Amino acid sequence: ALHGLYVFPEVDSTNAWALQQGVCGDVCLAEQQSAGRGRRGRQWQSPWGANIYLSLRWCFTPVPEHLPLLSLVTGLAVADALEDCAIHGHGLKWPNDVYYDGKKLGGILLEAVGSQAHVVIGIGLNVNMLPEAGAVIDQPWTSLQQISGQSVDRNAVVAAILQRLVRRLQDFPCLDMAQFQQDWQQRDLLQGREVQVHSGRESLQGLASGVDHCGQLRIILHDGSIKNLSSAEVSVRLG
Ligand code: BTN
Repeated sequence: ALHGLYVFPEVDSTNAWALQQGVCGDVCLAEQQSAGRGRRGRQWQSPWGANIYLSLRWCFTPVPEHLPLLSLVTGLAVADALEDCAIHGHGLKWPNDVYYDGKKLGGILLEAVGSQAHVVIGIGLNVNMLPEAGAVIDQPWTSLQQISGQSVDRNAVVAAILQRLVRRLQDFPCLDMAQFQQDWQQRDLLQGREVQVHSGRESLQGLASGVDHCGQLRIILHDGSIKNLSSAEVSVRLG
């Protein structure tokens, strides 16, 4: 269940706060992050006031074997929450980017505490950020305001995300694999598309074909063989 709700004007990173100071069920929100963290050691630009920077610390006992699926399940929760807020047309780019019209709307970063029994689920979502604000972001991005043409109430979006996320987290230990794969397929932006995968110096090209039971991306190579790729290793581009 949820525990405490902490809202700060500024922190270095809501994930860092939840990792260091949070207990199970704590939610940390900030107006601004001075050292927002992205995946693969990147920075997450976190200008003041416009967006959602949210972290939830959650504890599982015992640790589910399928814990690696949690970041994908978080993406599903965020996608559903946006739908609750009357935002449509978005999807998920494996492993856990929220996209709209080829532009990034949000990202998810999971970090584990020691044993992995405690995880911090970090969600960054562009809400009222506009291009004029001059944020320097090294990839195409959009925000809920740009999509809907009006400013969007962050509190309503946070409430919807927490509602959807907590429900998914409570169900997670008994995850229904078939249901999960079906849910994923409905949001999967890569499904059936030609993708280019980079892993270290290696580069592969093939057809994206959903995820396996471990949340790995399934790629059908041109010789017909199938490769499953873990998110730790690769970055994907539409080919
Ligand atoms: C990505 O690289 O796509 C993941 C970005 C995750 C950003 C969020 S913002 C709230 C939480 N705190 C952080 O420092 N990062 C995550």
